[in-house]
Amino acid sequence: MADLLSIILAAGKGTRMKSDKIKVLHPVAGKAIIKHVLNTLDGLNSKIVNVIGHQKEEVQSELEDLNKWDLNYVIQSEQLGTGHAVKQAESFFADYEGPVLILYGDTPLLRKETIAEFVKEHKQSNSDLTVMTAIFDDPEGYGRIVKNEAGNLTAIVEEKDADSETKQISEINSGVNCIDSALLRDFMANMNNNNAQQEYYLTDIIEFAVTRNKKINTYTVEDSDEIIGINTRKQQAEAEKILRGRIADKHLANGVTIIDPDTTYIDAEVEIAKDVTIYPFNYLEGKTKIAQNTTINPNCKLKDAVIGENVEILSNTIIKESKVGAGTNVGPFAYLRPGSTVEANCKIGDFVELKKTTVKNGAKVPHLCYAGDAEIGERTNIGAGTIFANYDGENKFKTEIGSDVFIGSDSILIAPLKIGDRAKTAAGSVVTKDINSGDTVMGVPARIYNPKSKQEN
Ligand code: UD1
Ligand code: CA
Repeated sequence: MADLLSIILAAGKGTRMKSDKIKVLHPVAGKAIIKHVLNTLDGLNSKIVNVIGHQKEEVQSELEDLNKWDLNYVIQSEQLGTGHAVKQAESFFADYEGPVLILYGDTPLLRKETIAEFVKEHKQSNSDLTVMTAIFDDPEGYGRIVKNEAGNLTAIVEEKDADSETKQISEINSGVNCIDSALLRDFMANMNNNNAQQEYYLTDIIEFAVTRNKKINTYTVEDSDEIIGINTRKQQAEAEKILRGRIADKHLANGVTIIDPDTTYIDAEVEIAKDVTIYPFNYLEGKTKIAQNTTINPNCKLKDAVIGENVEILSNTIIKESKVGAGTNVGPFAYLRPGSTVEANCKIGDFVELKKTTVKNGAKVPHLCYAGDAEIGERTNIGAGTIFANYDGENKFKTEIGSDVFIGSDSILIAPLKIGDRAKTAAGSVVTKDINSGDTVMGVPARIYNPKSKQEN
């Protein structure tokens, strides 16, 4: 049984982003804004209800890997305000007694520790309503926290409804609330849209709670950055910078050397082991993992890459959805396209492109090569300028090369093709037929080269 009900509001379009994509699906540090919000609930044992509307299928598929949680969806087909959005989830709190945590789907900088402490504080203080607030130097755009002389919260006034005196208030509403289910039910039956935007504001619950003599509390976060809400691209960029800083700090604390954190862009879900060195201008994206003692030289982009120990990635290398084994060198200017695996102690040199290709232990592709849909055996050497011709204009075909093979410079290997162990091709061969183990071929098209039989003829 869950001991909390959480409602995430994410139905809005986010008009101020000026995008075809809804706001909460935009990324911050490589992860959708809404996913950052949901991740703050990790470990809370909460039933979760997402209120969705615009691009609802896309939101659901973005959150697919959280389906292991008690994740539920309700649809708000018309966005009539934050209070109206909460109402769509009413069936979930109709019979539930306890605190309801409400979060807005556009606040990606919240920390899960803060949310946990906020919920704890709400429970321990026996409040009916707790509002998370922050003090902002520039509060423009946010709902203002209005307090009475005793310092108790009496109302939240939206920017658009605020007079000039209220606009001076620097304490703002974060959008994070914990509300007793009975009070929330009561408010749902009584809310109205008498305001500048003609919306049903959730924030009106404060004044409502005051009239019912409910216990109201505020919880002010220390780090006001945490509650930056994303409404515009500018705020998205600000959030990005703050989050990247936090991510770099985490890796530095874990023993990673980042030469210049300001020019190193690491996504939220990247894992890096200790004694890894990362030079400037690198982008480490998606679910990239980097093992101990590896060095990433300047200007590389790694996306969903799994890199082993003691690897050296030289400058200007791009690796996507591929694996690199321990002790291997890659680059400079290498391009590992999705589905490639380079095993241990290999060398993938400059201007080498691999696509859906496996390079086995100790093999070398040192320079200037395209290999697609191929398997390259252990200790095999692929000479400079070799092209794996895998595509006949209609279909793609495989090339399988055995162990200890020597492919001479400038060979063209026309797939489908199998080359046996210890075989050799001479420089400039155009290989159109399979080669048996131990054979040497040369020429165009390549034929078996056998010096002895030549003498006899
Ligand atoms: C809201 C608060 C404001 C607070 C600020 C914090 C209200 C009325 N205002 O303003 O006090 O300072 O957040 O960031 O609550 N949404 C829906 N359905 C709707 C309307 C909104 O799902 O009908 C969702 C949006 O997708 C968004 C979230 O609720 O994720 C907040 O809505 P938004 O329009 O961004 O509210 P703000 O104007 O920022
Ligand atoms: Ca907002």
